[in-house]
Amino acid sequence: HQLHAAELERTFIAIKPDGVQRGLIAEIVSRFERKGFKLVAIKIVVPSKEFAQKHYHDLKERPFFNGLCDFLSSGPVVAMVWEGEGVIKYGRKLIGATDPQKSEPGTIRGDLAVAVGRNIIHGSDGPETAKDEIALWFRPIELVSYTSNAEKWIY
Ligand code: TYD
Repeated sequence: HQLHAAELERTFIAIKPDGVQRGLIAEIVSRFERKGFKLVAIKIVVPSKEFAQKHYHDLKERPFFNGLCDFLSSGPVVAMVWEGEGVIKYGRKLIGATDPQKSEPGTIRGDLAVAVGRNIIHGSDGPETAKDEIALWFRPIELVSYTSNAEKWIY
């Protein structure tokens, strides 16, 4: 069928410093790509602590906030925007539960991580956070619009 505006849903996904250090970039990108989602922005950056605090501002009252921001700013992060039908919700499904001890096998955290403080990946938890996080990490011109061959078959 025809592409509708509703299918241009986008989410922010980040491979945290532990995922990068462990050599899991391709593994993680591959899971989103094989599912049928489209990569529309990607870069590798070392966020400052201030930037990490902005990214996680919703959690500033939590006891783990400071350690979490230290961790996110401790090394390179792969920041990405993925696009596709249902990508926000299904992206979270691919990622798995926050605590890798509770993530199902078959999910990224379930298969590849063991500790909540080292759970290798971030994904926006809803349409509002997706919008805010994309705007925090990327300038509009960094998002690339293109037609992938797969779309013809998927949508
Ligand atoms: P949260 O937004 O609740 O989870 P998610 O990443 O699944 O959306 O928390 C953000 C990150 O904070 C989480 O990925 C890991 C860290 N964290 C802890 O270190 N300890 C905790 O008890 C929780 C809930 C999260």
